[in-house]
Amino acid sequence: MSIVNAKEIMVEAAKHGYAIGAFNITDLLQFEAVIDAAVEKKAPVIVQTSVKPSKFLGTNMMVSIFRTLAGSAPVPVCLHLDHCTEIDYCKKCADAGYTNIMIDASKQSYEENIRPPKEVVDYCHKAGNISVEGELGTVSGVEDQVKVAEDEAQLANPKQSVEFVERTGLDIFAPAIGTAHGVYKTKNPKVDFDRLATINKMLNGSGIKTPLVVHGGTGLSEEYIKKLLAAGGAKFNVSTELKHTLIDTKFEYITAHRDEYDPGKIDVAVRDATRKAVMHWIDMLESAGKA
Ligand code: 13P
Repeated sequence: MSIVNAKEIMVEAAKHGYAIGAFNITDLLQFEAVIDAAVEKKAPVIVQTSVKPSKFLGTNMMVSIFRTLAGSAPVPVCLHLDHCTEIDYCKKCADAGYTNIMIDASKQSYEENIRPPKEVVDYCHKAGNISVEGELGTVSGVEDQVKVAEDEAQLANPKQSVEFVERTGLDIFAPAIGTAHGVYKTKNPKVDFDRLATINKMLNGSGIKTPLVVHGGTGLSEEYIKKLLAAGGAKFNVSTELKHTLIDTKFEYITAHRDEYDPGKIDVAVRDATRKAVMHWIDMLESAGKA
C-alpha cells in the first residue's frame, strides 16, 4: 500500500529541500493523470479535492477511487480535502478515508480561527493516521467555498503563526505570504519570501516539526518556485492550471474534431495533457525520483 498522510512525505521533502505537488482534481480522469504522472516521475504526490467535487462525487466514491489507484501505485499518495470551512464535513472525510484534511477558518478573527482547527486535529488524530492543515492570514482569490478580495488579503504574522500552530496542534501549516488563488494579474506578484523563511525558521529551525504549504501555485514562475523552495515551502497547491488544462483541451479537441462522436478520444487527450502538466510541476518542485 502506498497510502500516506501529507505530513510524513512533507517532512522528508522539507529535510531535503524539495516539495510535494498537491493537485486539485474534479474528476476521475484528472485523478488518474496525477497518479500516472507521479508514477512516471517516481515522485510522492498529493491529490486534493475541494469541497464541491468531493460532495458531488461523494466521499465514499472519492475514497474508493483513491484506494484503488493509490493502493497499486508504487509511489506514496495522499488524498487531501482542501479549504473546507465545515467542521462536520472535515470529520466525514476523515472517517471516509481522506488522509489529510484542511480546515479553513482563516476568514474569522484570530481567536475564532483557533477552535475549528483544534477540534479537527483532535478528531483526526484519534481517528487514524490523518494529518491536518490550517491557514493563518488570508489568500486572495477564489477556491471553491472560500472567496477573499484582494484588499481583504492579510499576510500571516510570524509570531502569531508559531502560537497558532502550538495552540491548534496542526501538522502542516499554510501561512499567507502574498500568493493568490486563480490567475495572477501580473508576472511578478508581490510574494513575501522572507516571511515564509522566517516562519520556517521559527517553526522548523531545530528540526522539521510543521512543514509549510504554499497556496496559489498556478502562474508562479520557476524563479519564484525556487525561492519558495529555499524558504521552506514543502507542499505547493495547484488547482486553476489543471482546470484550464481540462477545459481548454476538451474545447480544442472538440473544435478540431467537430464531426467525431467518440468521448474516449476526448478523455485520452485530457488525461495526457493533465499528466504532462503535473510532470512539469514535479520537475519544478524537484520531487522526481524521491518516491
Ligand atoms: P491555484 O488555483 O492558484 O493553483 O491555487 C490552488 C490552491 O492554492 C488550492 O488550495
